[in-house]
Amino acid sequence: MEYYVLLKHLHMLCAYLSATLFIGRLLLDMAGKPNWRQSPLRRLPHINDTLLLSLAFTLLAIGPWQPFSHQWLGFKILLLLGYIMFGFAALKQSLAVPTRTICAVLALAQLAGIFYLARFKPVLFVLS
Ligand code: HEM
Repeated sequence: MEYYVLLKHLHMLCAYLSATLFIGRLLLDMAGKPNWRQSPLRRLPHINDTLLLSLAFTLLAIGPWQPFSHQWLGFKILLLLGYIMFGFAALKQSLAVPTRTICAVLALAQLAGIFYLARFKPVLFVLS
């Protein structure tokens, strides 16, 4: 179980880093500095996100959680898919700025939802 706690903290560290790197790239684009795409900032988020998801699936494998029984986890995975899709579009230079802005807002809202579900694990609806 100590092992589980250590992996969970690593997962959390990657989660905070992932959010920071995403917001940082959005801010650089907003400041008219798209050159981060020619720096390590291009690859670093992918490496971190791969680690984040590997740790997530390891926690699932060794912990008590099941996506179909624990609603917070099932919805977290759904929100993750939306966050990946809208996050990708928000950073896509070929899209128009208003489209990217809407995508950025949606991605950030879903990211907030992911953190909320992970932290509070609410029961969203009662199945009879
Ligand atoms: C952007 C993606 C993700 C973020 C930001 C994120 C964030 C977090 C955070 C902050 C926690 C700690 C909650 C707490 O106890 O305070 C956590 C725990 C956890 N996450 Fe994630 N997570 C992400 C993706 C995933 C995915 C895809 C899965 C499953 C496939 C997953 C499975 C878990 C599990 C099993 C725990 C441990 C719950 C516990 O033992 O309390 N996470 N996550």
